Amino acid sequence: MTRMDGHSRLSCLVRGSINIDEFFHVPSIVRPGQTLSSTRYERRAGGKGANQAVAIARAGQYVFFVGAVGNDGRWLLDELERFNVCADNAVVINEEQTGRAIIQLTPEGENSIILHRGANYRISPAVLPPYQDRLEYTHLLLQNEIPFDVTLDYLNHSSTRSHPSNTTTFFNPSPMPTPDEIVQFPWEKLDWLIVNEGEALDLLQGMESSSTSRESQMTRDTNGQQPAETDVVARASKVLHTLHDHPRSSRKLNVICTLGANGVLALVPHFTQNNNDELVYVPAAKIDPAEVCDTTGAGDCFTGYFVSGLMDLQHSKGVDAATTKLEKEDVAGILERCVHAAGLCVRRPGAMGSIPSRDEVSAAMG
Ligand code: ADP
Ligand code: NA
Repeated sequence: MTRMDGHSRLSCLVRGSINIDEFFHVPSIVRPGQTLSSTRYERRAGGKGANQAVAIARAGQYVFFVGAVGNDGRWLLDELERFNVCADNAVVINEEQTGRAIIQLTPEGENSIILHRGANYRISPAVLPPYQDRLEYTHLLLQNEIPFDVTLDYLNHSSTRSHPSNTTTFFNPSPMPTPDEIVQFPWEKLDWLIVNEGEALDLLQGMESSSTSRESQMTRDTNGQQPAETDVVARASKVLHTLHDHPRSSRKLNVICTLGANGVLALVPHFTQNNNDELVYVPAAKIDPAEVCDTTGAGDCFTGYFVSGLMDLQHSKGVDAATTKLEKEDVAGILERCVHAAGLCVRRPGAMGSIPSRDEVSAAMG
């Protein structure tokens, strides 16, 4: 059976984290020894893996999530199903707690977060059921909120599967792996790296901290001033080129760098046309700053929409479209949709629940 014949469906496997996010609205962040009553409490489904899986489904592509919860997190899997994410292959580990984020939020917008990894870190490759051989998928999306070994295992496996075509792989390294892990990472097996600007710099520093010959030329904002959009883009393009050309990186790596309110810059070495022009910049959706309500999950929304956009492209243009035969306009079109999706996301409270549907994004794009 081939599934690239245009009839069978593309599918994305997300192997990642799923959490219960508990929000405590407090007058101030609690001090050592202090007891504070919260003024409001909310419990929501979260975790970058789960959020990004929901974004792929909301954007209209087929996605299944593989991860783990404890007995206290069965409702999270129902929540995924409610958003049309297949959770059949997620596991419930009875003797373990579900991953959990305890979040304090003040009226001034300050927050403090305690993260309990729980079931997310419970499944090691050694005890992982043989999912990878059994599961059919054409796209693989990984973050870094599960054991690093598991992420490596999935990435390595995706390149060795007997398959009509290679799996298209995506990695959103958040939180950033350690410098040793960055060096160990099989970059040549990765098709798409998705980072924000801070993560791009961290990654570069991780690559350079372990090589003695180079010193980072890149700088961060150290004062509180907002640089102009053109400065941000120029700075990001320097970072992306340095990252792409780094001896520890891979020449075929495509890099997407989100720039918050400044939009997104992509470096795509696979464009069919002009090789000197590998960059695509798309500004953010225009939003009145007063309308920006909650940027949590904007990056996850963006990432899921991007994966889904490439799946759409591959569906319409064939198997090579997502890796080897990219037209600049196609990538710009996908990124345009992503910034509009993320723009809607930042105008609503919450993360998973604020990810817009494909129709809502189309309406916003006019
Ligand atoms: P992360 O949330 O992972 O740090 P970013 O802050 O770069 O990622 O945001 C991801 C995307 O969300 C951006 O590329 C942009 O499209 C959108 N976005 C984030 N903040 C804003 C904002 N203030 N106004 C408009 N769009 C935004
Ligand atoms: Na985010």
